[in-house]
This record gives sequence, structure tokens and C-alpha cells, in this order.
Amino acid sequence: MSNTTTDPKPIPPVDLAAERAQIGPELFEAVQRVIESGWYVLGPEVVRFEKSFAAFQRARFGVGVASGTDALILALRSLGLKPCDSVLTSPFTFFASAGSIAWSQMVPQLCDVEAETGLMDLEAARNAIDERTQCLLPVHIYGQLVDIKGFRALADEKGIPLLEDAAQAHGAERDGIRAGELGDAAAFSFYPTKNLGAAGEGGGILCNSEEVHERLLRLRDHGSEAKYVHAEIGTNSRLQAIQGAILNLKLPHLEDWNARRRATAARYDEAFSKIERIVPLTVTSGSSHAYHQYAVRVIGPGLRDRVMADLGKQKIAAALHYPSPVHFQRAAADWGYSKGDFPIAERLCEEVLCLPIHPFLDTDDIQRVTQAVTEACKD
Ligand SMILES: Cc1ncc(COP(=O)(O)O)c(C=O)c1O
Repeated sequence: MSNTTTDPKPIPPVDLAAERAQIGPELFEAVQRVIESGWYVLGPEVVRFEKSFAAFQRARFGVGVASGTDALILALRSLGLKPCDSVLTSPFTFFASAGSIAWSQMVPQLCDVEAETGLMDLEAARNAIDERTQCLLPVHIYGQLVDIKGFRALADEKGIPLLEDAAQAHGAERDGIRAGELGDAAAFSFYPTKNLGAAGEGGGILCNSEEVHERLLRLRDHGSEAKYVHAEIGTNSRLQAIQGAILNLKLPHLEDWNARRRATAARYDEAFSKIERIVPLTVTSGSSHAYHQYAVRVIGPGLRDRVMADLGKQKIAAALHYPSPVHFQRAAADWGYSKGDFPIAERLCEEVLCLPIHPFLDTDDIQRVTQAVTEACKD
């Protein structure tokens, strides 16, 4: 007996195999080159990447570190923050944004986000700042920049540094400004699924001050300013050379990959404009969104679960980023927040669904996604 039904082709959230196929043998050559060089940690590949990524984001300096989380932790330290200082961030983010503050023995302060974008709300931030607040840490969630000029002005007004969580915002712009351009520092993740991803863990910090740059170079290498000379306490957070080489290879593709993400988003927007209960998060005017995620609000009791389940049956990966806000996590239980404190972030966590948006989706894939969502929303 033959089986005539064929399983639908999976549509994954990221397609690293397609990316590998595009980059081709150069990827393996880059890895081989590093192995043959014997220079496995930092070195010329990492220096080249630090310079070219900083130039790409229009910042003065770049420092490669071991992960996006380390980028946040070391950036906080490099900006002169100390244990017990309060740092204001968003409750609508991956836990690392706030967790890095707590891990640094500092105090996470939270404020609510904008309902239309999920981005940290400038006015809510202004209202949340108190005499303990020593740093602003807005998150460019999903690949769209916060009101970066507004946050820069607020930080200047209060005389405190601005650290951008740019883990999801490689190549994104707002009002012609890129992440890392206006901040005192910006932390990036090169986790493999990011718009610019390594073949393993990786992170980077951009900054515009020579002093912060020098401090970061020390902090990622046990506070060392010369071999066996330790000026301050640091850690080992050195970016590996293989990751530097791979990131060098991928960086020239990033503009094109982001453009493809935007083209897919435009097709999704068009299809969902006809469905009342699917509301894409807004792109602010003047924004060039990097679409690390394409997020929609699914309105109506039980509908998000139904859409997700129906997509799952058709092997279309839809995901919850994030199923609960930061202040609901057990790890945050003693931060002084409770349910109801950030109603917008809390509601977004109940409504938002992220659909596949990697650069290698073809027309059929996009149509299958929009059709599946449309069908699932029919009564
Ligand atoms: C907003 C945000 N901040 C920080 C991080 C931490 O980066 P990493 O996983 O490279 O440590 C991530 C990673 O997903 C993130 O999405």
C-alpha cells in the first residue's frame, strides 16, 4: 500500500542550512583558515570584525565578547556602574536584559512599554526614574529601535548613561540613527539565530568613548592592560577567532538579509490588514525595522492558541516571544514588582505571536503562512 499524503514542508523560525548554502564553501574555508593559523582567541579576525561592525553601525569602537549577556554585563561595568545602582529597563524582553543587571549586583527597575510597538515607553521611563536610577537600558525589541533621540535626551537631562540592548537590532535604524550611534554603549548578541549570527555563542559592545573602549578591552580579559598586569577585576569574555571569521564573512550580507526580512513583513502586513483579529505591531515612522521577529497581536479569547496549533499542524513554526513578562519570573520575585504593575507588557505577553521571518522564505512559504493564519481566524 502506498502512502499518497505528503507531509507539508516545514517552515522553521530560522533556516541556517539555507544561509550556509548561500555563503557556500567560504564558510568552511574561514573556519579552516583560523584553525590553520593557530590563533583561536581574539586576534586579527576579531579585530577586523570589531572595526567593520562598529563602522557598519556607525559607532567609533567595537569590542567582541563571549555572548550578548556578557556584552550587557561588561557594558554596565564599563560605564562606571556599581553594585546597588539602579538600572531602568523593559519588562517586555528576553530575561537577559534585566537578569544582567541583577547578575551585576545592581537593581533592576522596570517601566511599561508602548502598546503599539512593545518598545520601552519614553514617558513611562521619565516617570519611573528616581534618585536611585543610574542608567537607562532600553531594549530594541524585535529589531525596531526605541525613540533613541528621546532616550539620549532623557539620559543627558538626568546626567546618567544610556546603554542600548541591541541584541535583536543589527542594522536597524530610526530617524537615520543606528543602534550604537547615540548610546554610551550598545550590547549586541551574535547567537546563531540572530540577524547576524556566529556559529556558537558571541556578543559585541559598541561605544563612542575612548575611555569606555579601553575599559572594555580590559574587562573582557581579566582587567589586563598588558600581559600579567591586571589593572582591575575583569573576567574571561574573549570572542573566539572562528566566530570573528564567520561574522566577517556574514556582515556584508546583512543589509540584503534585513531587506528580505522587510519584504516578507510587507507581504504579511498586506495579508493581515484584512483580518481584524490579527494586528501587526506598528513600525514607527522613520524606522527601518530589522525584523528579528515579526510580531502580531492575536485578539480574542483562545485565538492565539488556536492559530499556533493550526500552524503547528502545518509544520509552520510560530513562537511566543515572550510568554510572560520579566517581573512574573520566579527569579525576579524579590525585585518589588507584582502582577498589574506593567499592564501593557502583561497584555502583550498574552497576545503576541511571532511568525517565521528569516531571509530565506520564498513566495510559497509566505503564502502558506498567511493562508494558515487566515484560515485559523475564521469562525
Ligand atoms: C533582548 C536580548 N537581550 C540580551 C540577549 C542575550 O544575548 P545572548 O543570548 O547572546 O547572551 C538576548 C538574546 O536572545 C536578547 O534577545
